[in-house]
Amino acid sequence: MNKKTIPLLNTHFPQLKLFNRGKVRDIYEINDSLLIIATDRISAFDVVLPNGIPYKGTVLTGLSEFWFKYTSDIIENHLITTQIEKMGNAVIAQHKDVLHGRSMLVKKVEVVPVECVIRGYLAGSGWKEYQKTQSICGIKLPAGLKESEKLPEPIFTPSTKATTGHDENIPFSKVVDSIGKKLAEELKEKSMNVYLNASDYARNKGIIICDTKFEWGITKDNKTILIDEALTPDSSRFWPLEGYMPGKPQPSYDKQFVRDYLESIYWDKKPPAPMLPPDIVQKTSEKYLNAYKTLTGKSLI
Ligand SMILES: Nc1ncnc2c1ncn2[C@@H]1O[C@H](COP(=O)(O)OP(=O)(O)OP(=O)(O)O)[C@@H](O)[C@H]1O
Ligand SMILES: [Mg+2]
Repeated sequence: MNKKTIPLLNTHFPQLKLFNRGKVRDIYEINDSLLIIATDRISAFDVVLPNGIPYKGTVLTGLSEFWFKYTSDIIENHLITTQIEKMGNAVIAQHKDVLHGRSMLVKKVEVVPVECVIRGYLAGSGWKEYQKTQSICGIKLPAGLKESEKLPEPIFTPSTKATTGHDENIPFSKVVDSIGKKLAEELKEKSMNVYLNASDYARNKGIIICDTKFEWGITKDNKTILIDEALTPDSSRFWPLEGYMPGKPQPSYDKQFVRDYLESIYWDKKPPAPMLPPDIVQKTSEKYLNAYKTLTGKSLI
């Protein structure tokens, strides 16, 4: 294996101030900015696996950057740069080998505490809620929709930003109660706008963006900007357009090999997760690289 194919599982930069370690990303605070590093960690069924997936962090960073640029005409976002030389920090520059391609320097802003989910299709918790109530987040839907079916139009289905456990779907009225009507309407409209633009583009490239989650922040001069990661396989459900067939779950573009393998060995989905065999790791890595290439038209390696 050459150096690039050895997955990065953890970062350790004692000279930098750690801001947050998530399931996949390690974030450091650099003055008024954040350094968001996508590692190669992967989670399945909400548990981080012991293996990393080569190139996964690079794909996630590359795709976020691609979408931030693609939508920058219509929506302002937090990205400052992904180029190490332009980050202007000696410690970061010293670790260029590790950080190159997987890091974004972004404006640190006040996070709006709502997960802005847009659903174009019926899957996951949306499908579960629909089966019980024929609605999602209080939005009434037509009767008789099938699993994975395209919705008559995309819907805004916000959820809480839970610090522990699973996020919870909430009706729009709850968002209004928590952040006010004006901002709630603005997030809904902006999230919808980005989804419509990106999902049209992706569909033309053969990828269905079933649903996706956006986060928004408020700058010091009171502008609402797109933050976090955007339209990656970790924040969205990507399905291959080829073979799309409502009435059943669709294969995930990226994690299907991992999920199928874990189901095949009857893992109870409780930590610790088992090691993945090398061929599953390899195939999954290829899937991520392929998603990048399909969407951007460029090869990462
Ligand atoms: N520009 C920004 N300014 C301030 N905070 C940001 C910005 N962009 C993203 N964040 C915040 O950084 C955090 C990123 O955390 P991350 O998603 O990696 O892990 P997590 O949410 O703790 O756990 P999980 O991996 O399960 O999602 C989120 O809370 C997000 O709101
Ligand atoms: Mg998160």
